[in-house]
Amino acid sequence: TASTRLANRHLLVTAGGTREPLDPVRYIGNRSSGKMGVAIVKAALAAGAKVTLIAGSVQVALPIHPRLTVQRVTTTAEMLAAAQAAFPTVDAVVMAAAVADFRPATISDQKIKKQAGQEAFTVQLVKNPDILATLGAKKTTQVIMGFAAETNDLLAHAKEKLAKKHADYIVANDVSQAGSGFGVATDQVTILTPDQAPQAWPLLTKQEVGHRLVALLAARLAK
Ligand code: PMT
Repeated sequence: TASTRLANRHLLVTAGGTREPLDPVRYIGNRSSGKMGVAIVKAALAAGAKVTLIAGSVQVALPIHPRLTVQRVTTTAEMLAAAQAAFPTVDAVVMAAAVADFRPATISDQKIKKQAGQEAFTVQLVKNPDILATLGAKKTTQVIMGFAAETNDLLAHAKEKLAKKHADYIVANDVSQAGSGFGVATDQVTILTPDQAPQAWPLLTKQEVGHRLVALLAARLAK
């Protein structure tokens, strides 16, 4: 039944945005609210799974549940470390977090001051590790589901991410579409797998998307 589909399975879910500090009071972040990731966590708990949630910056309340462990992180490096630590013990990973691709090259230990007459300020960014690709390269039996947030050429970019990150699923959302992506309660996603044609789902609540994604994982893990 729906409530036991993932009994004795352990899921790792990431949610929310990472933040990369510039100085003690400033950071580079993104608009992820954590709604999608938390919806997946709730669906997985309802399906009987044990869940480890790695939460970046989230704007929603996190569930409290005996089968849920929550780890709060700020930066991409922290999210990577937490994900790598949990990875060997999980059956599936869902990376719904919006992860910063770049971070400031240096973090000032004092608040950066504007100089008299200064009209511009340049920040140098350096590449962050890719968490999904790092886990994808190390997978043994884990099923790996990533997301792709795109504003153009959705399917082409999502297909590239599927291959490059060794994911079993990519959940592609066109974040330029009203009612989809960052912050809102609904999402229109297309599911990509290595061996099937892309499947476009209708516009659904993120909670319904969460239930359907968990059903996909449950079916896959039952094979
Ligand atoms: O949080 P909400 O407000 O509910 O919004 C949901 C969402 C739009 C954030 C979510 O649906 C979503 O698309 N999450 C992924 C956002 C993202 O970072 O997309 P991307 O296309 O840049 O990354 C592709 C995949 O690689 C993602 O699974 C991402 O978690 C992962 N990634 C990206 C960069 C990086 N350095 N490490 C990663 O692991």
